[in-house]
Amino acid sequence: MNTGPAGRTGHFREVRRGITKPTVFLNGEFLPYEKAVVPVEDRGFVFADGIYEVIRVYGGRMFRADDHMTRLQRSAASIALPLPMSTGELLKVAEELVRRDNLDEASIYLQVTRGPAPRSHTFPAEVHPTVVGWARPATPPAASYIENGASAITLPDERWLRCDVKSVGLLLNTIGKQKAVEAGAYDALFIRDGYLTEATSSNAMAVFGGKIYTHPLNNLVLPGITRKTVLELCEKLGIPVVEEAVPAAELARAEEIFITGTVTEVLAITMLDGRPVGTGKPGPVFRKLHEAFVRFSRGQ
Ligand code: PDD
Repeated sequence: MNTGPAGRTGHFREVRRGITKPTVFLNGEFLPYEKAVVPVEDRGFVFADGIYEVIRVYGGRMFRADDHMTRLQRSAASIALPLPMSTGELLKVAEELVRRDNLDEASIYLQVTRGPAPRSHTFPAEVHPTVVGWARPATPPAASYIENGASAITLPDERWLRCDVKSVGLLLNTIGKQKAVEAGAYDALFIRDGYLTEATSSNAMAVFGGKIYTHPLNNLVLPGITRKTVLELCEKLGIPVVEEAVPAAELARAEEIFITGTVTEVLAITMLDGRPVGTGKPGPVFRKLHEAFVRFSRGQ
């Protein structure tokens, strides 16, 4: 056990990693972490039969909560899962989680599964969805990442063909991220049929001739709320956007690459597969958008 100053550092590291125990909302109740227990045959656990959202809280206020709720409804409908609560009720729960744990900068996790039932591939005749949620402290990417950008590797996109659904089935996303970290990189960019789709938990954008290219919204990418925000900011700032997939073969000559997501915000990728992207430093399009995103998300 560390003691003294080193111990304190250890403590803060644990808090940052979120090893504290948040209040958990489970099926109508706010419970201490240890009391929030789900049956082992919950279909979320057994089949990854569920959907989720991650909502960022800045200065105590949820960022684009309505967009997250619209996407949650869409994801639920896509897997024929009836939501047992209205989105208004879910938002009240989300707010209450932040309030109870006295958080200012946080990310809220909300998940709905098809609930417990004897294991069978067929949906149960009577569905009792499990609704669970908690909030954890969140921080933006470290200043050094903003300053220098992050590195990424490319990986074949072997995920299913409904990446537009925010399903809890994220095995290939987690394997992708793990491979990136083991290769000494921050993230992986997925390549499907020769085109860049997205990153393991963010959308991806590349700049050519001062224009941003990003994968169009279809079944191959998540309709990211940060992506949507960034595209709105592009419109305001007069940055041209082309919603067209970028061939992987073109990535080596991209002026800039960046990723967007609730947790990553807007983050420049300055090394790809061990080679510098553009100048190897975060570029001007990223800088403009990052600054605009920070200002907009913090409501300044
Ligand atoms: N991930 N693409 C994928 C595969 C994602 O998992 C996410 C979000 C995004 C970005 O979407 P948004 O801007 O709405 O966060 C794109 C969340 C944060 C996660 O799984 O933790």
